[in-house]
Amino acid sequence: MLDLAAVRAQFPALALTHDGGPRTYLDNPAGTQVPQVVLDRMGEALVEFNANMHGNFRTSERATEQSHRAHAHMAEFYNARSDREIVFGPNMTTLTFQMARVLGTRFREGDEIITTHMEHEGNNWPWRTMAAERGLVVKTVPFHRDTYELDLDAFGDMITSRTRFAALNVASNLLGTINPVKQMVAALREAGAITYLDAVQYAPHGVIDVQELDCDFLVASSYKFYGPHQGILYGREELLSSLPAYKLRTVPDVTPDRYETGTQSLEGQAGVIGALEYLAWVGREFGSDLRPADGELSDRTRDLRAGMRAMVAHEETLSARLISGLQAIDGVHVHGITDPAAFGRRVPTVSITAPGLDPAALATFLDAHGVYVWNGHSYALPVVEFLGIADQGGVVRTGPTHYNTLDEIDRCVSLVEQYLGAH
Ligand SMILES: Cc1ncc(COP(=O)(O)O)c(C=O)c1O
Repeated sequence: MLDLAAVRAQFPALALTHDGGPRTYLDNPAGTQVPQVVLDRMGEALVEFNANMHGNFRTSERATEQSHRAHAHMAEFYNARSDREIVFGPNMTTLTFQMARVLGTRFREGDEIITTHMEHEGNNWPWRTMAAERGLVVKTVPFHRDTYELDLDAFGDMITSRTRFAALNVASNLLGTINPVKQMVAALREAGAITYLDAVQYAPHGVIDVQELDCDFLVASSYKFYGPHQGILYGREELLSSLPAYKLRTVPDVTPDRYETGTQSLEGQAGVIGALEYLAWVGREFGSDLRPADGELSDRTRDLRAGMRAMVAHEETLSARLISGLQAIDGVHVHGITDPAAFGRRVPTVSITAPGLDPAALATFLDAHGVYVWNGHSYALPVVEFLGIADQGGVVRTGPTHYNTLDEIDRCVSLVEQYLGAH
């Protein structure tokens, strides 16, 4: 079980105040705060070995070594087979546009691709752009408007002998639903399709294992899991090394270098190492009973998984309290899974609307009380369009993470109640 005081003490931002009162960060689905170790790692990279890679002098050698370490750590986080399967980039969206350009070369006019109405725009528009350029047919899996879960029958019907590719969301950044991607990837693989998973919203809230998922690509962003702004792509090595890469002549034609265009953010990669060190620390300190048994996994992967599971156990308590609290308020509608029996199929990202509610006005009211939440569509345009709520200002989105407390949840809920009672 997490020792919340010890956990919170790691995050300098949690000690800051808002007009003399506490700050309550419930904007975590958009980005989390960072622990001290991330700041230390980034500072170290910028002071002690702030040099470009591949030089024949000490600081450059250390920068090169650190970048190798960042790839190796992420390979352990994703359980990739090798660090050659890890590509760093500025963020998920940029990496996805890059991969759409690369993968587009594999497809022919009339080929079919599948995506869903549950995507973030970053896993939607790059593929629709690719489809428009290449004359591909796009099929979009709907979700049930009552359960907020994908319509798997419709998905099954969409797979044909022309299906070449699918871009799927692991967890929705608006609804919170965790999609059954393992099962979906298996069906797509059988049809010979390439699969691309968006794990940006899922990565802070669950264990990722690309070998178990058997996907071809998976992408996440470390600013959602306590690190700096960095996108990290997993790609199956055979594909990464055989697809065409849009690279400069000066870059060696090896994976992952051929995809890591230009000078990378080495301080960002240092911060990713720090974020994973933090996660492993949580595992060792508070997750000993949740550690996977000895087996094929590395020690670090086992620590990381123990850390993630310890976090998730606390987050489940927070999200249950948040959802039941919000639902009990007159007029509030939670757009996402609310059945406690199905909470294992959601992350703690919780979006609400209410009749006549201006989401921006409620977010502004909460901010006046030091509670930070998002309003609008949060780039989940496919979701708000499918739900028909794009024109009313979208939703108010709250999202606790492992460093939040039950008191913070209660305070947020009672402020929402106070606001709605007065408007
Ligand atoms: C599910 C999901 N996918 C993609 C993204 C885009 O990630 P990035 O900001 O790294 O481009 C986000 C960001 O909020 C997200 O939540």
